[in-house]
Amino acid sequence: MPAISATAPGKVILFGEHAVVYGRPAIAIPVTQVKAKAIVTANPRGAQGEVRLLATDIGLDAMLEDLEPAQPLAAAILETASALKVKRLPACTVKITSTIPVAAGMGSGAAVSVAVIRAVSAFLGHPLPDEKVSALAFEVEKIYHGTPSGIDNTVVTYARPVYFVKGQPVETLKVRRPFTLVIGDTGISSPTGAAVGEVCKAWQAGKTLYEAYFDSIGAMTQSARQAIESGGVELLGPLMDANHGVLRKMGVSSTELDTLVVAARRAGAWGAKLSGGGRGGNMIALVPTARAEGVAKALQAAGAVRTIVTGIK
Ligand code: PMV
Repeated sequence: MPAISATAPGKVILFGEHAVVYGRPAIAIPVTQVKAKAIVTANPRGAQGEVRLLATDIGLDAMLEDLEPAQPLAAAILETASALKVKRLPACTVKITSTIPVAAGMGSGAAVSVAVIRAVSAFLGHPLPDEKVSALAFEVEKIYHGTPSGIDNTVVTYARPVYFVKGQPVETLKVRRPFTLVIGDTGISSPTGAAVGEVCKAWQAGKTLYEAYFDSIGAMTQSARQAIESGGVELLGPLMDANHGVLRKMGVSSTELDTLVVAARRAGAWGAKLSGGGRGGNMIALVPTARAEGVAKALQAAGAVRTIVTGIK
């Protein structure tokens, strides 16, 4: 049997992070320059149920039965087998690689889950439809960060720009006029769960204020959707600046993120904001395409450890 492989892209959140956990809309886009890949190879000489997991990037080489069921890679395999009512998998090796930066707000956990679910279900002879892949990856996301909104698994599964509201059917966005983003990585690892937990504490201590923050972010996200679908790309810049301003007030930015956001604007970006959980990880800048390389250089000079230029269409 030939090896079966599947991939899923990284992602960034364009608008609405954190507020999305509280029922407001968010917009996320796939970043195809980075991806997670899973390859499943049959081991014809192995016994039924012998599944080896190999993820050398994270130093993992283990048999499935020796891992905790809550280990996210193990969970992705077990969720898939259970969805397909397969009690014991045929002997195989599941190899996982990823070029998506970890704990940087780029959806690496969700992308790895989606790649594994797709490859394992195809290996079992029942490739799952996107809706089911996303739902299973959401179950694994809960292990990574407690109360995920579901936006990460959705955007990396569909690999299209999405307008996302928790618990509602996914809407993919039609991008009327392509636009260009520069992503700048602070290099500071920031697990999403911690940032989400801090926001939750602050919300509990000041519900009226935080609900107002979430409402204003929700309104910006709706305006951004209109701008994307009507081709008013320049309007997105001020909306990104405004969204960053509210995220700052919520305490999820950091000196490093603010420095990169300011550097991007000075280098000619139309707007910039942190993206994802915040505190560290990535920021994004909307740029005239001709300025993309200049903005990327300015971000590097201001301390970004990595920059990615990506087009959205
Ligand atoms: O995975 P990240 O860091 O892009 O964060 C996801 C966005 C949050 O809104 C902060 C959390 C969530 O589950 O939606």
